[in-house]
Amino acid sequence: MRRIAIVVGAVSFTVMAGGGTALAEPSLHPSERISASPVSAENPSPERPLVAVAHRGASGHAPENTLAAIEAAGRLGAETVEVDVQLTSDGEPVLMHDTSLERTTDIEEVHPDLDSYDVGDLTLEQIEQVEAGSWFDPVFEGEPVPTLSDALDTLESLDLNLFLEVKDPETHPGIEETLAEELSSRDHWMEQNPAWEPRRLVVESFDWDSMEESKDLMPSVSHGLLGEVPEDELGDYEWSHMVNPNHEGLTSDYVEAVHEAGYEIMPYTINDQDRMVELLELGVDGFVTDYPDVGQEAIAEFEGAAHQADAQDGDPADELEAEPAAD
Ligand code: G3P
Ligand code: CA
Repeated sequence: MRRIAIVVGAVSFTVMAGGGTALAEPSLHPSERISASPVSAENPSPERPLVAVAHRGASGHAPENTLAAIEAAGRLGAETVEVDVQLTSDGEPVLMHDTSLERTTDIEEVHPDLDSYDVGDLTLEQIEQVEAGSWFDPVFEGEPVPTLSDALDTLESLDLNLFLEVKDPETHPGIEETLAEELSSRDHWMEQNPAWEPRRLVVESFDWDSMEESKDLMPSVSHGLLGEVPEDELGDYEWSHMVNPNHEGLTSDYVEAVHEAGYEIMPYTINDQDRMVELLELGVDGFVTDYPDVGQEAIAEFEGAAHQADAQDGDPADELEAEPAAD
């Protein structure tokens, strides 16, 4: 069964090749959807489109985890952006991947006398004095390390969805509460997208205990587990919506097991178009890439090939898809 999105005017449907038309449903956890609508291991979330998530923003095109990278993702057609968040020593959530600011900022020049350049050892004021763009390309000189609040403002203004990775939460005690407070203060992030659109917000981490705590604080928000959950433990995280492992070594058996357990799966980080298509053929629901533009092309290639295969099979869904979209 393959999914082909059809847009007629302002209303979206998903037609399942070989099956009927699924009308929009309220957003449900995959395990809930199993009883509400038929969901198979091959297609656990038939309503949602495939997603090419822009990793750390479009970090192949602009400095990672900056507003410029988020804006580049929007310009390149991404629908969803992934960023990493940590807490400063005075408790402000900021975007940063590494524990230390050394690789992606000029902090050693700006603060030559500090003993530590770790996010958790620096105040927001100290971090606001550095720039995080010129290491990537001089054209980005002056790009600040954004606060989560700045990033959310930009994402909202561009109507982009968010995968928020909580980096090393054990070194940032209380980060779950801080993030819940920030996100809950904005109605936008508490509202779910319709079930035929990509998820608006997924909070995820390699620290699964932290995610369980976060889910308790924000029950309406989707959460994800980064890394490969052992197959015999897939039943232990019913509160989670996703299992997002490294793409290397991923097998169709594992993808199927994840789907059967009721989760979506979006592996990271893939920049080669052929590999993206291979993963889509394994049945993943999306993937994370530094190049969301390449990711969109891979999805189009995969869906085009699927469409062609269905047309050769004389699939009735193709007749529906051939109808022109209304204005
Ligand atoms: O989306 C998951 C991916 O971002 C995890 O790896 O190291 O890039 O944060 P990393
Ligand atoms: Ca990340």
